[in-house]
Amino acid sequence: MTIAVTGSTGALGTLVVDALAEHVSLDQVVALARDPQRAAHLGERGAQVRTFDYDRPEDLAAALHDVTDLLLISSNAVGQRVEQHRAVIEAARATGVGRIVYTSALGASDTSLNPVAPDHVETERLLADSGLDHVILRNGWYSENYLSELENARQYGAVVTSAGDGTVASADRADYAAAAAAVLTTPHAKPVYELSGDTAWTFEELAKTLSAVTGADAEVRHVSPDEHREALRQAGLPEAAIEFVVGIDAAIARGELGATTGELSALIGRPTTPLHDTLAAAEQG
Ligand SMILES: NC(=O)c1ccc[n+]([C@@H]2O[C@H](COP(=O)([O-])OP(=O)(O)OC[C@H]3O[C@@H](n4cnc5c(N)ncnc54)[C@H](OP(=O)(O)O)[C@@H]3O)[C@@H](O)[C@H]2O)c1
Repeated sequence: MTIAVTGSTGALGTLVVDALAEHVSLDQVVALARDPQRAAHLGERGAQVRTFDYDRPEDLAAALHDVTDLLLISSNAVGQRVEQHRAVIEAARATGVGRIVYTSALGASDTSLNPVAPDHVETERLLADSGLDHVILRNGWYSENYLSELENARQYGAVVTSAGDGTVASADRADYAAAAAAVLTTPHAKPVYELSGDTAWTFEELAKTLSAVTGADAEVRHVSPDEHREALRQAGLPEAAIEFVVGIDAAIARGELGATTGELSALIGRPTTPLHDTLAAAEQG
């Protein structure tokens, strides 16, 4: 078995390599990196480091020659990533990779309001059409997405949201990484996993947790989507980022990120990390 991980220099990819080390020897792991120097620390720990730039499709197959299981961590290049994922899937097919495991988004569907859903739906289609054996990990929200609220709580005492009474079943990145490692080292996985935290929190609960962790007195300010856009504009965000943030809150308001499926804790064999613990660990540095 040779397991390759794309995006191994990223936050999730690094944690996946850590989690794989608990299942297999790292000489069975290939850390794929656009800049191999950034993955040098993984090489020092025994992983094979290979150059892998999604934007150089002609070079991808060579890096996958002996790979049995490939984790395709979705690219962060929004707007280009479907083409990047297509190049990876084609290279995997050309070289005879046995199985692709892909990190998608919780509840990704054609009707989702989540702005990240369309790229994931399209990539899932590419995988289905490829004929390759594949597993979809539909990852819910990272709790780390809310680390910037620590500063907002301290500075403004407020969490601004247009998500209404929607909830978020977030989990720590390390939980999703452990799940990916478990699936990569399990030959008979399910075709699709909907992965999320064990607890779905409201924004009132987020504010309470921020207050407990920072000592500030943070409150939720519920706003309409248009008021949210205006607040973000005044904070200096570019229009595309504003639509992204408001789109995510619309998806949360509709319940798209609140499902507590239990599949993540089942895969990792322990409860998922509570939001409090992720925020407190970041606060303590
Ligand atoms: N579920 C959630 O809450 C959530 C939140 C944010 C993102 N995501 C998704 O989950 C993915 C992983 O999250 P993360 O936190 O690990 O993101 P990240 O830290 O931004 O890592 C992204 C990885 O993609 C690599 N990459 C970007 N362009 C590439 C290219 N042209 N060729 C090869 N590699 C390339 C980066 O390499 P470099 O080190 O060279 O830049 C990096 O290793 C993200 O990319 C995004 O699709 C999910």
